[in-house]
Order: sequence, then structure tokens, then C-alpha cells
Amino acid sequence: MSKLSTWARFKKAPIDNPVKTMIITVLICFVASLFVTFSAIKLRPIQKTNTLNDKRKNILQVAGIYEEGKTIDEMFENVEARVIDIRTGEYTTSVNSDYDEITGAKDPETSRALTKQEDIASIRRQSFYKVIYLVKDSSGEFNKIILPIHGYGLWSTLYGFVAIGTDANTIYALKFYSHAETPGLGGEVDNPNWRAQWKDKNLFDDNGKVAIEVVKTGASGKYQIDALSGATITSTGVNNLVRFWVGKNGFGKFLKTTKDQGIQ
Ligand SMILES: Cc1cc2nc3c(=O)[nH]c(=O)nc-3n(C[C@H](O)[C@H](O)[C@H](O)COP(=O)(O)O)c2cc1C
Repeated sequence: MSKLSTWARFKKAPIDNPVKTMIITVLICFVASLFVTFSAIKLRPIQKTNTLNDKRKNILQVAGIYEEGKTIDEMFENVEARVIDIRTGEYTTSVNSDYDEITGAKDPETSRALTKQEDIASIRRQSFYKVIYLVKDSSGEFNKIILPIHGYGLWSTLYGFVAIGTDANTIYALKFYSHAETPGLGGEVDNPNWRAQWKDKNLFDDNGKVAIEVVKTGASGKYQIDALSGATITSTGVNNLVRFWVGKNGFGKFLKTTKDQGIQ
């Protein structure tokens, strides 16, 4: 009787042979994992560019200068990114404007842990460096400041921007570009009607104290925003994170200098 080769024996084995099934499964998994790995590596630069462009689109939208039909690069010509050291409120060149503060907040060299009392936005650690964006009007004069903000809602950390005037006090708009709050409840932070409440509200009272607040109902005056109905926890999170970032542990020093001396 002729001796069958390993391949011939494998081919001849019935399809429900456990060893054959196992070998075919392992082979399929191996080929699939190669495919997934290859795609992930190939797509990484594209994903990075898309994420950056999405963030830049959100900056343009919160600044009110996003126009369909124009390229992001074209529109971004009127936007200048600067890095601030929030410990001093001054500009710094310690890191570039493509600095990733989320990664930076995990590095003990570039961040610090917030105390429980300080951490009203529930972010635990805070990067020393923050990239802000200064927006120019058609005559090249700065007319808005875009500050990155983030903090915890009910289910997720909300990441967004607040656009303010060069008086470092009057809000132009607030916009989140990433969160996982419930659609129709906390997710209503994206609702244009709710967002519209923020326009022209003031961050600080006449004594320079943080005054902006999200209240459960009956918002009035130039500092109050009505909470989202059925989403008090997300609303409280937004209240806390906005107050944190414009306060003394956030952009407070930078905003005070800008208020006194204008944009430098
Ligand atoms: C499935 C589910 C999802 C919810 N999602 C949110 C949410 O995203 N944000 C939020 O503040 N509350 C959410 N809530 C409601 C909260 O549990 C809580 O009841 C609410 O924040 C209280 O707000 P109110 O005082 O305006 O009713 C959710 C509740 C359920 C059952």
C-alpha cells in the first residue's frame, strides 16, 4: 500500500474530522488577522488625518466660520493655534500646537493630579499645556478665542470647545465634538436650540468671579443657561466642566491677562 503524503491525507480526511476542522479554523483566523492588521496599519494615517480634520471642522463651526464648499485648510488660514501653559496663563513653546493633551495628561512630566476639591469636571489629571485657537476676521484682526474644554457627564467625558470674544468674557458658542451621552437625553447637548442659549452669555461677573451656570429651570440674565430636561446629570457635568476650564485651575490666568491687556 502506497504511503500517502501529509497533504493527501489531509485532503482525504472527512470534512467533519476534528483535526481537519481545527487546522482550517486556525488557518482562516491567521489569514483574517493578517488582513485586519494590514488594514489597520494602512488606514492609521488616514484615520489620523480624518480625526484632525474633524477637530478642525468643529473649531471652525464653533467659531462660526465654517462654510460648505471650502476646504478645511483654506478656512483654517484665519485661525492661529497657540499653546498656553495654564500654570502661568502665558504662551509657551515647550510643546508644538499639534500637542495631544489627552496623552500629555497621563505623563507626570507634563501634568498633575487634581485634588478632589479642585476636580469639579471629574478629569482626574490635567495637562499643563493647552492648545487654544485665535480666530481672525477678514481684516486680519483677532475676534474670537476658542478654548478646548472637557469633563464628565453621565456616561462619558465630553470634549468640546467654547468660543468667546476678545473681551475674554462674552460667549459666542459652545460645541462638543465627542461624547457618549444618551441620544435624546444627555445627547441633546448637540441640539442647536439648546446650544443657542449660550450665545452672548458672560463667563464672569463684574468682580471677575466665574458666574456662568447651568440651572435646572428658569434661566435668566446674562449668566444662566437652562439645563436639558430629563438630563440633569449631563447638564450638571457641562456646568462643572465649563466653570472648571474658565476658572483658576483652567484658563483663568490667561483670561484675566487677555481681559486686561487684549490678545497678545
Ligand atoms: C437609559 C437611560 C439613559 C439616560 N441617559 C441620560 C443622559 O445621557 N444624561 C442624563 O443626564 N440623564 C440620563 N438619564 C436620566 C438620569 O438617570 C436621571 O434620571 C436624569 O439625569 C435626571 O434628570 P431630570 O431631573 O431632568 O429628570 C438616563 C436614564 C436612562 C434610564
